[in-house]
Amino acid sequence: MTFAAKLLGLFTGSMLTKLIEIGYDTGLFEASRAGPATSEQLAKRAGLKERYVREWLGAMATGGIYRYDAASRRYELPEEHAALLTGQSAQNLSPHAKIIEHFGSHLAKLKACFREGGGIPYSAYRPVFTQCMDDVWRRIYDQMLIPGFIGAVPGLTEALERGIGVLDVGCGTGHAVNILARRFPESRFAGYDIGEDAIEAARKEAREMSLANARFEMLDVAELPAQPQFDLVTAFDAIHDQKDPDAVLHGVRRALAAGGTFLMIDFKFSSRVEENMGNPFAPLYYGTSLMHCMPVSLALGGKGLGTVWGEQTARQMLREAGFGRIEVLDTPRPQNYMFVCRA
Ligand SMILES: C[S@@+](CC[C@H](N)C(=O)[O-])C[C@H]1O[C@@H](n2cnc3c(N)ncnc32)[C@H](O)[C@@H]1O
Repeated sequence: MTFAAKLLGLFTGSMLTKLIEIGYDTGLFEASRAGPATSEQLAKRAGLKERYVREWLGAMATGGIYRYDAASRRYELPEEHAALLTGQSAQNLSPHAKIIEHFGSHLAKLKACFREGGGIPYSAYRPVFTQCMDDVWRRIYDQMLIPGFIGAVPGLTEALERGIGVLDVGCGTGHAVNILARRFPESRFAGYDIGEDAIEAARKEAREMSLANARFEMLDVAELPAQPQFDLVTAFDAIHDQKDPDAVLHGVRRALAAGGTFLMIDFKFSSRVEENMGNPFAPLYYGTSLMHCMPVSLALGGKGLGTVWGEQTARQMLREAGFGRIEVLDTPRPQNYMFVCRA
């Protein structure tokens, strides 16, 4: 019975995740911030059909996301819930529901991989995946990149202020590069990614921000040229889904100027399942791995490291790539850590 109750909770959570995506995409959460509303009022505010909004609210209220006052027939998104479901800050967790739903749209292909092997190519996930990543990570970068990630490495902010060369590998839509380039005008920034949609978005944003010190290239980072060299190379969540992560790490090492630093931001796990037991993020990221990070690598005949490759494997691969000094630091996000690597 206990396990049955757990399963009911899991199925309910899965269903509510889909409904959270609907609330995010249709603007229902944002419309709810104006205060308690009947289904008619909320539908009007959001410009939606009342019958659909009412059914959605039924799930939201019984699921503990909204409050319902039967006397006034009004639904309320409590302020402390709105803080986690609305707004532009990294605290808004709604975009995560969208990623989970996007992963779910590939289940048929994934089940075929269980039977036949192989993987699901990155191209099958684009452009939605690129947009989802942007949606999640741009909020994190806006809020935490400079004070939290860069600021955690002693001397790095000062070096960027003086002016250094920086490369971001697997830069996605380039928001990290662009906000660093804006904040540190004396430094020169490059972002490389294999995704055309990502690079186009990165260049567009750099133009809109009138940045003269940020450039983006479509490039396979497994074939990173040894020139030009960089004083700082960063990788945000961009190593473990590579076809050939060893080649990328070796290439990063070669592309680093003397005394340079490689900053690798990844997901904070052990390489041993038994040490991840009780980690509340573990099932989510083993699942993320299975539904995206591992199959995109395996589709290319790659290593298939997966999201939960863990600290021990990461350290070993970094050492093999020639990084003799590796320090692991916490980040402002509890599920991430960063490896500060030097030759
Ligand atoms: C999980 S996403 C992270 C994106 C970005 N760093 C961010 O924070 O939003 C991984 C990125 O690595 C890119 N990528 C994967 N394999 C690559 C390769 N061989 N060369 C260059 N980029 C690659 C993908 O296109 C994707 O944009």
